[in-house]
Amino acid sequence: MLKKLDNLYKDIALCTKCPLAADRTNPVRDNGDPEKAAAVLVGEAPGANEVKYGIPFAGEAGKKLSGYLALAGLAREDVYITNVVRCRPTSNGGRRNRTPSREIPSCGDWLNSELAIIRPKTVVTLGNISLKWICGKQYNIGNCHGKLLKAGDMAIIPMYHPAAAIYRRELDELIRAEFQKLGYYLKGNGLC
Ligand code: URA
Repeated sequence: MLKKLDNLYKDIALCTKCPLAADRTNPVRDNGDPEKAAAVLVGEAPGANEVKYGIPFAGEAGKKLSGYLALAGLAREDVYITNVVRCRPTSNGGRRNRTPSREIPSCGDWLNSELAIIRPKTVVTLGNISLKWICGKQYNIGNCHGKLLKAGDMAIIPMYHPAAAIYRRELDELIRAEFQKLGYYLKGNGLC
């Protein structure tokens, strides 16, 4: 599995399927051990910090995510983290991070290949972008956060994106409770 993922990431580093490739500097890899991970977590796209360090969730959203994972009884090392989009979408002449949009279809194919290699039992989608890519456009995080969905053989647990709690602080308590339930689910106790 690791060799296949290495080869996949070599291909991703050379990808020219969308215009984001032109500004790619430091390709952002996956993070974690896919063979031991309790779950695969899928975010949206890298921002400036992720590009700087070459790993997903390396900035403020990553700090939030680590705190939420701790509530599930998990460290970052216990999960495998990846994104739908692999290069940093920007606006304002490269100064600001932007929510990915037109690059999702071509980049999402890389995620499909990654999931086909790992074949995870449980995928935690973080925010709307990964939820919609994996489960379908009809799903919305506002309606199905914390619930158990299926996509093929995979159990999908949609969670709010950790950054949502930075912009909407009232979501923090809900996200904390849902990560606690996630820990319960991953220990084999169902989603309660
Ligand atoms: N937000 C994401 O969705 N992914 C990252 O890697 C960082 C922030």
